[in-house]
Amino acid sequence: MVIKAAAKIDHEVDPKKKEDMLGLYPNPQNLLEEHATIDTSVLKELSFSSILSARMFGKLLFCELCKLAAFLQLKKMPIRDVLYDKIMAAAFFEPSTRTRLSFESAMLNLGGKTLSVAEAATTSIAKGESLLDIGQMFNSYADVVVVRHTEQKALQDLSHYLRIPLINGGNGSDEHPTQALSDWYALLKWKPEIANSKLEDSKKLQLGIIGTPGNMRSVKSFLILSLLFSENIKKITIVSEMADPLGEDVQDFCNKSTIPIDVSNDLQQVVGQLDVLYMNAIAYLGDSYRHLGSQFKLSSKSGLKKGAVILHPLARRDELSMDLDNTDHNLYFNQADGAVFIRQALLLAIFDRVENNSI
Ligand code: CP
Repeated sequence: MVIKAAAKIDHEVDPKKKEDMLGLYPNPQNLLEEHATIDTSVLKELSFSSILSARMFGKLLFCELCKLAAFLQLKKMPIRDVLYDKIMAAAFFEPSTRTRLSFESAMLNLGGKTLSVAEAATTSIAKGESLLDIGQMFNSYADVVVVRHTEQKALQDLSHYLRIPLINGGNGSDEHPTQALSDWYALLKWKPEIANSKLEDSKKLQLGIIGTPGNMRSVKSFLILSLLFSENIKKITIVSEMADPLGEDVQDFCNKSTIPIDVSNDLQQVVGQLDVLYMNAIAYLGDSYRHLGSQFKLSSKSGLKKGAVILHPLARRDELSMDLDNTDHNLYFNQADGAVFIRQALLLAIFDRVENNSI
């Protein structure tokens, strides 16, 4: 089935909100052609599925999901109460601002209900309860659960005990797949032609990743999703202080792509060539999170290419200067803002409620 946008736009995007936004704010309409449609049969692939890795998204599936997010962001679909009978548990055993709150906001916007665990200490884990026993409770109390955990293995283990879809909200140093959906939703609003057609060489993107995909989950999931657009990415440069920032697993995955991947430890040398800079500095090393790459900093004086955009999953510290916030290099606030809509689209697809919402 194909869904067309509602002929009448129910609510315009609040223009005041756009004016108040710092940085670049590309119009979601950029993702939709004049008579845009969503092929809902493609989204069926996500119906009642768990989302554990960015690897499960093919290009067509991801692009249809982005179109649905754009419909939602532009309020071209009525969504009130569509998930009225669903409960989402957001179980975060590690701190979060954006992921937990944007998932909750997405669910509430769809008329669903939320249960939230903001830290492990408020659960019976403090009394020695196992995560697997908590999993049994998720089955009883919710229809979908978003989990963030410090341990890479925790989500895979938990998935064996769950009868409801499990969404990975970040598992140790492994992956953060829905962050990558937000990252690329922002990039496709900025340059929709990346998804639509093969670009001539001079228009292909040079991507820079400041971080270590081998042990930074957001960076890793971003890199995995980036490979979907291989025909329009000229090169990816990883800027890292580590000798082997990819690690064996990510290297094997990248070897399947045609995109050349370089490694540099000199940001100054490469910054002027990059069209997109994806930056993160928090890595899981040993048994805790560390702030890495203190020599890699971006500011308005870094010599960024004209028109280049910066993505950062946030939280940031001094690696990303606030003097970039009010510039057109700043796509990071839009990246966080759009997260609500791509997560709404994901929840609608998981609950197979897209068609019910058609006009
Ligand atoms: N991007 C992201 O994962 O942010 P939080 O840690 O605040 O959820």
